[in-house]
Amino acid sequence: MSEFDTVIKGGIVVTPRDQFRADIGIMGESIVAIGADLTGARTIDASGLLVMPGGVDSHCHIEQLRPDGTADEESFISASMSAFAGGTTSVITFASQFKGRPIGPSLIEYQARAASSMLDYSFHQIITDPTDDVIATEIPALVAAGIRSLKVFLTYDPLHVDDRGFLRILAAARRAGALVTVHCENYAAIGWMTEALLAAGHVAPKYHAWSRPVVVEREATYRAIALAELVDQPIQIFHVSCSEVAEEIARAQARGVKVWAETCPQYLTLTENDMDRPGFDGAKFMCSPAPRDAHAAAGLWAQIKSGTIGVISSDHSGYRIEGPRGKRSAGSDANFRDIPNGLPGLGARLALLFSEGVGGGRISASEFVALTAFNPAELFGLAHKGRLAPGADADIVLWDPAKQVTLRNEMMQHAIDYTPYEGKIVTGFPVLTMRRGEVVMRDGVVQAKPGTGRFMARGPYDYIKPAGHLAHGFDASLHA
Ligand code: URP
Ligand code: ZN
Ligand code: ZN
Repeated sequence: MSEFDTVIKGGIVVTPRDQFRADIGIMGESIVAIGADLTGARTIDASGLLVMPGGVDSHCHIEQLRPDGTADEESFISASMSAFAGGTTSVITFASQFKGRPIGPSLIEYQARAASSMLDYSFHQIITDPTDDVIATEIPALVAAGIRSLKVFLTYDPLHVDDRGFLRILAAARRAGALVTVHCENYAAIGWMTEALLAAGHVAPKYHAWSRPVVVEREATYRAIALAELVDQPIQIFHVSCSEVAEEIARAQARGVKVWAETCPQYLTLTENDMDRPGFDGAKFMCSPAPRDAHAAAGLWAQIKSGTIGVISSDHSGYRIEGPRGKRSAGSDANFRDIPNGLPGLGARLALLFSEGVGGGRISASEFVALTAFNPAELFGLAHKGRLAPGADADIVLWDPAKQVTLRNEMMQHAIDYTPYEGKIVTGFPVLTMRRGEVVMRDGVVQAKPGTGRFMARGPYDYIKPAGHLAHGFDASLHA
């Protein structure tokens, strides 16, 4: 008589603290036991493999709407394929507000689009227009609906908010009990630099990096932290590109500010020289903040190791090269300002990080699990995700640490027509992905039914409660 529906047998179980040989017993959608000599109606042999929680990618742009009503080419179905192929089982993607419009109707459209997902998903709500109604009514309604994180852009036309708008959003998040995530770059500085570069005839993709050097990101990061500190509202800084920026975060963490940091594989593996590749190829590496240099990557690894940066997400962005909205849509000689920013990385995130991090001797397998699954689940209130423990969802990836793979775009199984990592050799690759007890990928073949993904409603949780440090003890958010 079998004890469990499924047993994953004989692998090395990796948790954020430990690695040990054990079997995992699964009933229905959940892990129910971790131990020795478990028996199941179905046995999956994991000998020679690492058994890790399915990746939690807390920063992915999927089927994101544009103001004209069209959406990114990366659909919830193609994103699910890519995520499962790469060992990721849940994502937090974005719902966007457009200036001059309310949140409600567009959120309904996002929810309808996401209904086809195979991945489990939640949303960060982008706030671009903090009107009285958004602040007083829509943000509390979002939180009541289980969307417990907001995203603010301090740059980009037409998304950015000014300091006053940012303060209003921070205060609303504090009142409602939501986390605020922030894209930190200085809007005016980038605009000024861009105009100067274009006037000087510097138009090629590599000048994207010149238009937004480190100081532009560092200033906005410092300012975001300072304003969050004023309101006593927890924040996460998105896509930290180098250690000068992380140092601002480390200083604030050391004085008790609740600020967390994320970086992405592109900042660990690419440099601004990639944007100087011949022809239009440089555009494949354009994202914001811009990739820096090898020194910056080494600095980031140190900040990961010290714990300043606790989450590594993909910032997967659904821009193709070709097509009406692709990177080449303004022509092969478009100036850098007219080329959409963002890179695909949902399918490659875990393999890149494992190879460079664990294979490169920079982090342990336990740290890999913490950075890619456990910590994002903790930070965003997903208590049943990102961990191998009785009671958790049976989201599991079996990982062959010795498998050498040359990354190719077709392996990514996304709707994007390139990967910036084409031809890169990685060591360590997922061979099986399980989502809530169901095998959804085996040896690169994804099999999952559209619509089987689940919305992850997020309730209140202690991790993101305000620190309780207010200047003069005055809580301005109660009166603003
Ligand atoms: O260049 C990037 N990162 N594009 C995606 C949008 C964002 O800023 O996160
Ligand atoms: Zn961003
Ligand atoms: Zn992003």
